[in-house]
Amino acid sequence: MNQKSGLDPVFKDEKNPFILFNGWMKDAEKSEINDPNAFNLATVDTFGQPDNRILLLKGQTDKGFIFYTNLQSKKGRDLKSNPKASMCFHWKSLQRQIRIQGPVELVDKKTADTYFSSRPYESRIGAWASSQSEVMKHRDEFEDKVKKFKKQYSDPNNVPRPEHWSGWHLTPFKIEFWKEVENRLHQRLCYSLIGTSWNKEILYP
Ligand SMILES: Cc1cc2nc3c(=O)[nH]c(=O)nc-3n(C[C@H](O)[C@H](O)[C@H](O)COP(=O)(O)O)c2cc1C
Repeated sequence: MNQKSGLDPVFKDEKNPFILFNGWMKDAEKSEINDPNAFNLATVDTFGQPDNRILLLKGQTDKGFIFYTNLQSKKGRDLKSNPKASMCFHWKSLQRQIRIQGPVELVDKKTADTYFSSRPYESRIGAWASSQSEVMKHRDEFEDKVKKFKKQYSDPNNVPRPEHWSGWHLTPFKIEFWKEVENRLHQRLCYSLIGTSWNKEILYP
């Protein structure tokens, strides 16, 4: 048990939630069968209707978290009209959860280009061929587009990033760490950004 907080040692005694986040992510990388970086992304549309889906965390800065997607997709449109989001990581193998809230902004072009060029060839072609979240008449329509872009960008070293495909950076103002305890007596530690420093509070489960 952590002497100061009375919480399990996995909560450590960190002033900075990013250090704790990275520690938990390392634990998840060892214990999850796949995609330890998968998280649920919640967005809200112009009617105030929430929506959510799984994405992969693909970058971090000292201020936040980066994910990549099609900017014309449903989530892309939600984020454009309401640039606020919530992320939720759940690791079954660890029985832990992390919830994150904050505003989002697009990453700069260089960051997006660098990440895009690190993706496998097929994924880069997919970014061109998929009108993500749009209705498709038949699967052939998509496969034809894949063929077309493979022809257009036949050199794997020269596939430009589509303008409509980029990354969002979420700058959290709240990060909550949750750990399962038997009989639902779970443990929760919530960090809130006050000015430039993080305030920590233990929450009832
Ligand atoms: C494990 C997993 C990882 C995923 N990673 C991404 C991702 O990083 N980016 C993305 O745009 N979609 C990703 N998807 C697909 C999304 O869940 C979603 O179907 C897609 O982005 C369309 O969402 P939208 O219509 O709300 O925009 C992933 C799905 C799963 C199950």
